Amino acid sequence: MITLETVADLRLSVSTWRSAGQRVALVPTMGNLHEGHLDLVRKAKSLADRVVISIFVNPLQFGEGEDFSSYPRTLINDSDKLSSVGADLLFTPPVSEMYHRPQPLQTKVEVPGLSDLFCGASRPGHFVGVATVVCKLFNMAQPDVALFGEKDYQQLMVIRQMVEDLSLPVEIIGLPTVREVDGLARSSRNGYLTDAERSIAPALYRQLQQSVVELKKGKYDLASLERQAKIRLEAEGLRPDYYAIRNADDLAEPTQDDRSLVILAAAYLGKARLIDNIRVDLE
Ligand code: PAF
Repeated sequence: MITLETVADLRLSVSTWRSAGQRVALVPTMGNLHEGHLDLVRKAKSLADRVVISIFVNPLQFGEGEDFSSYPRTLINDSDKLSSVGADLLFTPPVSEMYHRPQPLQTKVEVPGLSDLFCGASRPGHFVGVATVVCKLFNMAQPDVALFGEKDYQQLMVIRQMVEDLSLPVEIIGLPTVREVDGLARSSRNGYLTDAERSIAPALYRQLQQSVVELKKGKYDLASLERQAKIRLEAEGLRPDYYAIRNADDLAEPTQDDRSLVILAAAYLGKARLIDNIRVDLE
C-alpha cells in the first residue's frame, strides 16, 4: 500500500490506473479505523480493481466546542490495518492541502432539507462540512464507486442526494452497520466511553430493536412510541438527543401506508454522542 499526502500525487496514481482501464473505489474516513471501515474496504476490493482510503479529520464538519482537536488520530495503527486487508492507496492530506482559504471563504456544498434534520439540527453546519469534503474527495480521487457505512444513515442520504443533484459520476454503496457482540454499533468515538458507560451503551440498540417489535405488532402511534423510547433510554442512563421513526427513503414523517421505515436515534453518554438506526420493513 502506498501512502500519499498531496492531491497531485493522488491524481497521478489514480490516472495511471484509470488509463490502464482499472476501476477505482474510494472509502472516505476520518481514521481510528474499526471493523466497520475494514468491511467497507473488503467490499470495495470486490467492486473495483484499486481501493483508495482517505483519512482526514475534516475541520469543516465539526462545530465550535466539538471534538475536532481531541478526535482520535491513530495513523500508524490504521495504516497497518489497511495493509492487512489489501488497500492500495492511503490518502492522508494535511488540512492545508484540503483547504486553502479560511473557513468562511471556502466554497461549500449544501444539501438543503435533509441536512437540517436530526444530526444536522443538533450540529448546525455539520452536513455542509461533510458534503463539501466528500465532494472534494470525489473530485480528487475520481472514483467509480464510493462506500459508506449505514450507521450514519442520514449522512449516506445527504451524500446520495448530493451525487444526484450535482450529477457526480460516482456510484454510492452503503453497507450494514457492524456491531459489537452486545449490539453497540462500532464507532471511532466509542473509545470516549468509560467502562461504566460502555456497559450502558448497548441500551440504544436494544431500544431500537424493541421499537421494531412494537411497530410490527401494529402499534402505529409513532409519537407515543418515540416518547416512550426516550423515557426508557433516560431510565437506562442515556440522554436522548432525538429518536425518530421516519420514512426510510426520504426521512419524511411516515403515513399509515408507508411500509419501509427507519428509526434514527442519537443519545449522549458521558463525553460520547452515540448514533444508531434500524430499518423496519412492515410487509
Ligand atoms: O463518516 C465519516 O467518517 C465522515 O463524515 C466522512 C464521510 C469521512 C467525511 O469526513
